Amino acid sequence: MKSRIMLWSLILLIGWAIPSGAQEPQVDLFQGEAVYQAHCVRCHGVQGKGDGPDAASLIVPPANFQRMESRAKSETDLRSAIIWGLAFSPMHGWWDTLSIEDIRAVTAYIRRIAPYEPSSP
Ligand code: HEC
Repeated sequence: MKSRIMLWSLILLIGWAIPSGAQEPQVDLFQGEAVYQAHCVRCHGVQGKGDGPDAASLIVPPANFQRMESRAKSETDLRSAIIWGLAFSPMHGWWDTLSIEDIRAVTAYIRRIAPYEPSSP
């Protein structure tokens, strides 16, 4: 039963994560900030520089969203890292913890504190 629910959530998330070309719905940046403060700031830091209080104890340092490499990533790239996590890294996936709205909102919040710069490498 539980695995069936998980399977459905996965299917829904995959469908949602693939860009449809449709316009993104409006996101709530306050919600994004709240999610970030609750779950992400301890590693990624207030300004997203990867210098949160827990960062020092990690072998793989948290991503610095202010780096050009990170700013060049699309919203879809960021979102899939948030949903699925990254291999061999303390950055686990959040698909089972956060709602789709939370993930959308926190991605937008990251892009607020570290704006997208497509021309960078
Ligand atoms: C336990 C510490 C930790 C927590 C908590 C954490 N992250 Fe991460 N995050 C990392 C690490 C470490 C990396 C870099 C992994 C790598 O380079 O392999 C990362 C990478 C990322 C990336 C990829 C960025 C890029 O430029 O590739 C995104 C996006 C991200 N985190 C978002 C979030 C969000 C949103 C939250 C909160 C819901 C969060 N993280 C919570 C440790 C954490």
